[in-house]
Parts: sequence; C-alpha cells; structure tokens
Amino acid sequence: MAGINEQIPSIEIHQAKPEDLETISKLVALAYQTPINPGSFTNRAEDSVEKLAQEIAEGTIILIARKGDEVIGTVRYKPENGFLMLSRLATAPEFRNQGVGNSLVKKVIDTAKSAKIPAIRLEVMEEKEKDLVPYYEALGFHETERIQYTHHKIITMEKKLEPTE
Ligand SMILES: CC(C)(COP(=O)(O)OP(=O)(O)OC[C@H]1O[C@@H](n2cnc3c(N)ncnc32)[C@H](O)[C@@H]1OP(=O)(O)O)[C@@H](O)C(=O)NCCC(=O)NCCS
Repeated sequence: MAGINEQIPSIEIHQAKPEDLETISKLVALAYQTPINPGSFTNRAEDSVEKLAQEIAEGTIILIARKGDEVIGTVRYKPENGFLMLSRLATAPEFRNQGVGNSLVKKVIDTAKSAKIPAIRLEVMEEKEKDLVPYYEALGFHETERIQYTHHKIITMEKKLEPTE
C-alpha cells in the first residue's frame, strides 16, 4: 500500500523530444491495435520513429502526457491553411477514462487560441463513429463533412474558436 507521504504523480503535458519517439510509436500502435471490423486495416496506426521524425521536420508538433516517468498519452497537431489539424490522439489502455485524452485535446485548443488560429479539425473513421463522435462533441467539435474513400468513410469534425473563448 502506498505510504501516507508518497506523492501520486500528476499528469504533465510536454512537447515530445527525439528520445520520446520510440515510446510514442509503441503507444500509438498499442492504442490503435484493435480493428473494429475483422480484416480492417484502417483502425491500425503504425508510426515508425523515422516517420514521426519526418512529421516533426514537416511542421507537426507531437505532445505527450506523462505521469511520473511514464508516457501515458499522445496527440499531434499541425497548422494548416486557416486551421489546426489534430491527429493520433491516444491514451495507453490502462490509463483510459482518467481525463488524459481530454487534457491533451484541451492543450491543443489552448495552443490554437493563443496563436489566434480560428478552428481545429480532426478526422474520425466512420467505423469508430459511435464511440468517438460523442467524445469529440463533448469537447465542442461537430461534424462538417463525411467522405467515402474506396474502403471506408472519414468524418471530418471541427471546433471553431471564438476570440472571446
Ligand atoms: C479516444 C481516447 C484517446 C480517449 O482517451 P481517454 O484518456 O480515455 O479519454 P478521457 O479520459 O479524457 O475521456 C473523458 C470522457 O470521455 C469518455 N470517453 C472516453 N473514451 C471514450 C470513447 N472512446 N468514446 C466515447 N467516450 C469516451 C469518458 O467516459 C469520459 O467521460 P466523462 O468525463 O463523462 O466520464 C482513447 O479511448 C484511445 O486511445 N482510443 C484509441 C485510439 C483512438 O481511437 N483515438 C482517436 C482517433 S480519432
């Protein structure tokens, strides 16, 4: 049992450093590993360290949520023309439903507001609609578009940021 004076580490959010990329790669692969439809490749996400480094070189910012020494969540964003694109939100399975994902998305929202970027966009696979659309709606996003690709549909969601928010 934890001693009475033992500190429970709180969650901290930082920008990822090169030495975090391997952990992020594993965390994303783990978080996205379960395909909802058997045979579906679209729910998997495997980002190698090289791919992550390349994304950073091309302007993507990767955030990590840490509890003590452990990386327990991640998200990334990239400024596009007139909006910020948010992607690869992931919380380690054993730390789900503790507010990690919400904290990461809120950090991106605050960053966009500070930079006076008027909107944040993200994409959800239609297969995950039932779970994820309500999740993002609770954070102020709404569906703006649904596009059919060859094997799957993608839902685009957006949150507009008012200057007063
Ligand atoms: C989506 C994900 C990042 C959520 O992370 P999380 O840290 O568990 O989320 P939070 O703890 O911040 O969730 C807060 C709220 O959302 C709810 N919630 C959590 N996961 C949810 C989900 N998948 N669908 C709907 N609601 C969800 C919680 O019940 C909680 O609600 P409450 O505040 O009313 O109790 C996590 O489930 C995950 O890593 N999923 C796999 C990867 C993925 O699909 N990412 C999104 C791709 S677009």
